[in-house]
Amino acid sequence: MRNAKWRAATKAALALTGAGALAASMAIFLPGTASAGTTLGASAAEKGRYFGTAVAANRLSDGAYTTILNREFNSVTPENEMKIDATEPQQGQFTFTNADRIVNHARSQGMSVRGHTLAWHQQQPGWMQNMSGSALRQAMLNHVTQVATYYRGKIAAWDVVNEAFADGSSGARRDSNLQRTGNDWIEAAFRAARAADPGAKLCYNDYNTDNWTHAKTQAVYNMVRDFKSRGVPIDCVGLQSHFNNDSPYVSNYRTTLSSFAALGVDVQITELDIQNAPANTYRAVVEDCLAVPRCNGITVWGIRDSDSWRSEQSPLLFTSGGAKKAAYDAVLAALNAGGTTPPPTTAPPTTPPPTTAPPTTPPPTTPPPTTPPPTGSCTATVSVNQWPGGFVANVRVTAGSSALNSWATTITLPSGAAVTNAWSANRSGNSGTVRFTNVDYNSQVGAGQTIEFGFQGTGTAGNLSATCA
Ligand code: XIL
Repeated sequence: MRNAKWRAATKAALALTGAGALAASMAIFLPGTASAGTTLGASAAEKGRYFGTAVAANRLSDGAYTTILNREFNSVTPENEMKIDATEPQQGQFTFTNADRIVNHARSQGMSVRGHTLAWHQQQPGWMQNMSGSALRQAMLNHVTQVATYYRGKIAAWDVVNEAFADGSSGARRDSNLQRTGNDWIEAAFRAARAADPGAKLCYNDYNTDNWTHAKTQAVYNMVRDFKSRGVPIDCVGLQSHFNNDSPYVSNYRTTLSSFAALGVDVQITELDIQNAPANTYRAVVEDCLAVPRCNGITVWGIRDSDSWRSEQSPLLFTSGGAKKAAYDAVLAALNAGGTTPPPTTAPPTTPPPTTAPPTTPPPTTPPPTTPPPTGSCTATVSVNQWPGGFVANVRVTAGSSALNSWATTITLPSGAAVTNAWSANRSGNSGTVRFTNVDYNSQVGAGQTIEFGFQGTGTAGNLSATCA
């Protein structure tokens, strides 16, 4: 299917991935020039942005639905399938079947994926609802780590934490079981997500954060500013933007977008729907995003009105019968007319992706022994993401000049630190000197090649070193 749609979608996907962003946008963007895209995704891509929709896995078998999805959108957000209750219904038992259906569909169509959401007070499975304190903190971090690791490399942006602030005038955090584990739970979640998927943009996502004068908006702004000043890994802010009579669009929305962007984060409109879908309001939202260089994408929360979580408000761009509404025409026209500011250049991830580093061991300068040992030597390096009371460690095992058939590394933890779980390795011990050995699928490491495993722990890890054999 190498047609115009495919190329547009591929361009948009490129626009989300580092160097491709600059190349793609420079090649296609002329400031102030109207463009003539005929679909939402293609028009947004011409402005260096994406246009996405929430997708429900059980609708992918509806041909009318997928026809519009594939034609119009170049980004998807699983509507419910990546939430905690869906991905970890029993503690420690992860199910990705429905989320994978959406991710695989998106990838086959050249669409990017927003991951939604790793930590949230709602749609928690029963086991998590009943937890508290450090057990909940560890369970939450394990969830973040496992899900982000599973999807590593496939998610353009993760909503790491969703809806953590209270409504009203308090500007306070929302009370929840997660909040009661300590005020640092949000930054701990972001650190764990960064460690698990260094290439994904990490977003904080919330609703009623559109009006710049509202206390909740200011509270989220202050948190993001604080995170940026202290080096907590955050790359983007998601504004859900569910607009209705109780929570209407306001003209200072553009100020909100540009104020967040000025903190050095991308801004994404993540769940847009508007009661009764007034064309003028949809147009204004699109114009506001296009006016802010770091507003790099818009997602509507469903395709047809019948797909909406608020279908009685008819808030989307397509009728239940799949026809384009006036709001659709307004959005497309605004996308084609707007964009007098250059699109954002997406910064590369702060940590290089794990699989692209060159081997750390140079080729041998002396001839290899005539009888090679059954398995070669190796080196191992550890990187630690520490937060108060816990950490995630990533370990890279690199084969020397001979391939490995198996490997083992030992890591000595300082007293007070303990491993709570590990992935991609077998573990013996949990404190003091802990030994990790290969699992079946990573036992073979080619000469000079690297595999990775990781573990999570409590306490303070300090600088860790690893032996390898
Ligand atoms: C909604 C879904 O659309 C519904 O299908 C589900 O029953 C409840 O959740 N904010 C969010 C989204 O972050 O995950 C919510 O999605 C809507 C509000």
